[in-house]
Amino acid sequence: MRGTTVVTGAAQGVGLVTARVLAQLGWRVVLTDLQPLAAALESLRERGVEAIGIQGDVASEEFAGSLAERLERDYGGAEVLVNNAGISMICPAEDTTAAQWRRVMDINLLGPFLLSRHLGRGMLARRRGSIVNVASIAGLAGVSHRSAYNASKHGLVGLTRTLAAEWGARGVRVNAVCPGWIKTEMDVADQGSGAYSDQDIIDRVPMARFARPEDVAEAIAWLADRDKSAFVNGACLPVDGGWTADASWDSLRVRTRT
Ligand SMILES: NC(=O)c1ccc[n+]([C@@H]2O[C@H](COP(=O)([O-])OP(=O)(O)OC[C@H]3O[C@@H](n4cnc5c(N)ncnc54)[C@H](O)[C@@H]3O)[C@@H](O)[C@H]2O)c1
Repeated sequence: MRGTTVVTGAAQGVGLVTARVLAQLGWRVVLTDLQPLAAALESLRERGVEAIGIQGDVASEEFAGSLAERLERDYGGAEVLVNNAGISMICPAEDTTAAQWRRVMDINLLGPFLLSRHLGRGMLARRRGSIVNVASIAGLAGVSHRSAYNASKHGLVGLTRTLAAEWGARGVRVNAVCPGWIKTEMDVADQGSGAYSDQDIIDRVPMARFARPEDVAEAIAWLADRDKSAFVNGACLPVDGGWTADASWDSLRVRTRT
C-alpha cells in the first residue's frame, strides 16, 4: 500500500469520488466530513475499496490538531492532504451579512489553512508531502453574486502559492485545482435556488458540458503523486473545459460548435 491521504468533505460529491480514485490507485485513504461517513465508506466497499472515516469540522482547530495526532499515531502521518470541503454562497454583495461571510471564510479558507498547518508539520519533518486544494474558477475570476465564495477561493489560490513558496524546498508541494461547474449535490442545491440553469453553463464552456467529479478527481490524483507531478508546485490548474481560457462573446462561442 502507498502512503496515507486525507480527503476532506468526502461524504459526497467531488470528495467521495476523489477518495475512490485515490483508493483504487493504492493509497490508504482517510475520509473526513462534517456529516457521518458510514454511507460513503459502504459505497466504496461496494466498489471493492476499503477506507477509513473520521467525522469532524474542518473549520475547528481542535479537529485539525486531533486529526494530525491520530494520523501520526496510527498511520505514521499523512503524505497527501486534499482540502476539498467547501460550501457555496450565492447572494448579492449588498445583502451578504458579516456572519455569512465569516462562515464561508471559516470553511473554505481557514479550514484548509488549519489542516495544512497541522498535517503539514509531519510532512515537513519527513520532507515528504503533497497538498492539493480544491479551489474553483471562482478563485481565478469574478462571478457575480458570490462575493464571499469568490473571495474565499481567491484566498485559497493565494494560500496555495504562498505555501508552495514556503515549503517547496522542504519536500512539501502545494497545488490547487480550479474546477468549473460540476454536477454534484452543491450544483443541485444552487440550481434549486434558481441561480442558473444547465444551459447557462453548457453555453459558457468551450467543451459544452459540466465537469464530472471524475475529471477533477483524476487531476487531484496526478497532483498528489510525487512520481507523476514531481516538479509541479504552486500550480493552480483549471479543470474547466477551457472556461477561463475563453474570452469569446456568447454567440461566437456557440457558433463554433456546429
Ligand atoms: N460543484 C461545483 O460546481 C464546484 C465547482 C468548483 C469548485 N467546487 C468546490 O469543490 C469542492 C467540493 O464541492 P462539491 O460540489 O463536491 O460539494 P458538495 O456540497 O457536494 O460536498 C461538499 C462536502 O463538504 C462537506 N463539508 C461542508 N462543510 C464542512 C465542514 N465545515 N467540515 C467538513 N466537511 C464539510 C459537506 O458535508 C459535503 O459532504 C468544494 O470546495 C467546492 O467549493 C465545486
